[in-house]
Amino acid sequence: MFKTELTKRLKERKAILGIVGMGYVGLPLALRFSEVGYTVKGFDIDANRVALLNRGESYIRHIPQDKLTIALQNGFTATSNYEEANKIDALILCLPTPLNKYREPDLSYVLSSVEALLPFLRKGQILSLESTTYPGTTEEELKPRIEKYGFKLGEDFFLVFSPEREDPTNQNFHTAIIPKVCGGITANCLDVGESLYEQVVSRVVRVSSTRTAEITKLLENIHRAVNIGLMNELKHVAYEMDIDIFEVIHAAATKPFGFVPYYPGPGIGGHCIPVDPFYLTWKAREFGIHTRFIELAGQINSSMPAWVIRRLVAALNKHGKPIQNSKILLLGLAYKVDIDDIRQSPSINLIDLLLKSGAKVDYSDPFVPKFYNYHEKIYDMQSLDLSPENIKQYDALILATCHTPFDYEMIRENAQLIIDTRGKFHEINVDTIIKA
Ligand SMILES: NC(=O)c1ccc[n+]([C@@H]2O[C@H](COP(=O)([O-])OP(=O)(O)OC[C@H]3O[C@@H](n4cnc5c(N)ncnc54)[C@H](O)[C@@H]3O)[C@@H](O)[C@H]2O)c1
Repeated sequence: MFKTELTKRLKERKAILGIVGMGYVGLPLALRFSEVGYTVKGFDIDANRVALLNRGESYIRHIPQDKLTIALQNGFTATSNYEEANKIDALILCLPTPLNKYREPDLSYVLSSVEALLPFLRKGQILSLESTTYPGTTEEELKPRIEKYGFKLGEDFFLVFSPEREDPTNQNFHTAIIPKVCGGITANCLDVGESLYEQVVSRVVRVSSTRTAEITKLLENIHRAVNIGLMNELKHVAYEMDIDIFEVIHAAATKPFGFVPYYPGPGIGGHCIPVDPFYLTWKAREFGIHTRFIELAGQINSSMPAWVIRRLVAALNKHGKPIQNSKILLLGLAYKVDIDDIRQSPSINLIDLLLKSGAKVDYSDPFVPKFYNYHEKIYDMQSLDLSPENIKQYDALILATCHTPFDYEMIRENAQLIIDTRGKFHEINVDTIIKA
């Protein structure tokens, strides 16, 4: 009865959606459900974010203001009040899942949110967890909590896991056309989950359990982390051999089968790739398994900022300059092209290493005008405008993130030395440009 009624409400788009966590994942998802005609409520504990959203101000640069304005006209509102969860038909959790200081899974955001929601849940709802996590989370952590409240999963309440596949700023792929994997606690749960997501994505990929859906997401990100790690290792080799690794990858990518290009860089950043693989590492230990590939890729990727600095020191040395008191300009603070997200950005590691070496550091990033603090450490820096006069003042530039607005010709013409971690310039290890 509950399944039939909820499925009908979902298919007729009369169901009310509640997205919990209005961040990089939750906000675009809320806008997508609103766009296809659902009434959507966004839940977030950050009162400032809630106020901004209700005023129609998007705080995520790549999410356009007008999309939010239209959503508000169509009934979208944001709140910090969990009591309102009682009116919701489908609740979707898009909450952070970081690592704690021991690099172990930190489910505290998800679990505290579920605990806070429990008193307001009612029969006939579906709850979907989208946060990236280890296999078993939905079954071992969410299911017992919900059952303790007297719900019968698959009969009067529905629980699924469906991982987010958002790729911020990717012009080719957006929520509507990215297939969505979904696993349910029971077959009924999965059926309702499919009815929920098929309204907003082109294809729902049904898998046999929530654990399968959870590990599918981890596989996707581990695949990236390991392959980027491999390219970073090959970059070391190519550097010593005076070969341009980027040219090699571009050439290899012309093979029409059996090769997928990945690119090296100054390390890896963002909320996902440096973090998610270690959710599996942690869980695998319970089964006596040591995830060696994941650990090795992690080691290589996290050693990259120090390797880049060693290349810089060697190049400055050739110019007769010590790193101490050298003026270094870092291009790109965000971890990825054309976004304002600095979470886990290797650029921050580069700044830390440069400061430790006694260098004088500035940065330029058109998407991050100010960099005040990160993880309780104060930086209090401001993005430098790139002009020939400004660039000439620096002993070296490190290109960490290739934002589109950078004028690369102007940079090349005016820089004394460029440490190019992204293969943007064609020269390979000449006096003024080092591929590192
Ligand atoms: N950012 C991405 O591109 C991306 C892609 C795929 C998957 N993911 C996964 O999606 C999940 C969310 O990531 P994100 O990047 O959107 O995080 P985010 O930090 O951008 O957003 C999380 C939001 O949750 C809010 N929040 C925290 N605790 C809360 C609570 N108890 N109740 C309500 N709101 C709360 C925060 O204020 C914040 O607005 C993570 O598990 C992440 O691994 C992220």
